[in-house]
Amino acid sequence: MDILGIDIGGSGIKGAIVDVTNGQLLTERHRIPTPKPATPGAVGKALAELVNHFKWKGPIGATFPAIIRHNIAYSAANVHDDWIGTNDADVIEQYTGCKAHVINDADAVGIAEQRFGGGKQYRGTVFLITVGTGLGTALMVDGGIVPNTELGHLILPKHGHAESFCSDAARKRDDLKWKEWAKRFECYLAHLEHLFSPEVFVIGGGVSKKPEKFVKHLNIQTPVKMAELKNLAGIIGAAVIAEHG
Ligand code: BGC
Repeated sequence: MDILGIDIGGSGIKGAIVDVTNGQLLTERHRIPTPKPATPGAVGKALAELVNHFKWKGPIGATFPAIIRHNIAYSAANVHDDWIGTNDADVIEQYTGCKAHVINDADAVGIAEQRFGGGKQYRGTVFLITVGTGLGTALMVDGGIVPNTELGHLILPKHGHAESFCSDAARKRDDLKWKEWAKRFECYLAHLEHLFSPEVFVIGGGVSKKPEKFVKHLNIQTPVKMAELKNLAGIIGAAVIAEHG
C-alpha cells in the first residue's frame, strides 16, 4: 500500500510517497518551509501545497512535534499554542481533502528506525532520541512502542529541564564546543540508562549527521548508534503507522 508520509517540523514540512510494506520511498522527498507563525490555518495551506505537488488523493500519515493522542495535540513545546486541543488529522483533511493519521514526530522516527534502520537488529528496550530544536524520545519494547514518552522534558537532578540543557538548540544558544555539549548529553543518557536499561540508544535529528564530533566523548555503558534513515525516518514512520489508522 502507498501512503503520503509528511513530517511537520518547526522549520520545514517534508513529504514523500512511501511503500509501507518495505518502507521504501516511491518519490523524491519534497520540502516546503514551515510558515511563520505556524498556526493550524497557515500549516494547513502549506500542506495543501505539498499534497498538490504530489497530485495526491490517497491517505496521509503525518508527524507533529507534540503529544498526540487519537490525532489530537495535547502540547506545544516548540509549535504555536493554537494547536493545543486541535485535531490535527481534521486540519489536514480540511485543507487537502485526504484522510490523515497523525503521530508524535519522535515516535515516527522510532518506529521507522526499529523496523527499517538503526534499531532493526535489537529486541527488548530500544531508546531513540531525536536531538534538534526539541529533544524527542521514542521508547520501543520488543518492536512495539510506548507512545508520547516526552522524556526530553525530564528534570535532571543537577541540571534541570533536559531539553533546555542538551538539545541542539541549547548547544547553539550557549555556544558550546562539541565536547562540552557531549558531556551535557552524557548526563542525560546516563540518567535514561539508569531509568530504562535499554539495549541501545539510537540518536536521530541534526546531531546524528556528525557522530565524529561527539560520540567519542560519551562515557556510558549502553551502545550508541546513529539513526540510519536520516531525514526520511519521520516520513516513513508516519506513513507506516497510518496504514492501520
Ligand atoms: C516536544 C515533543 C517532540 C520533540 C521533538 C519536544 O519539545 O515536546 O513532542 O517530539 O520536541 O520535536
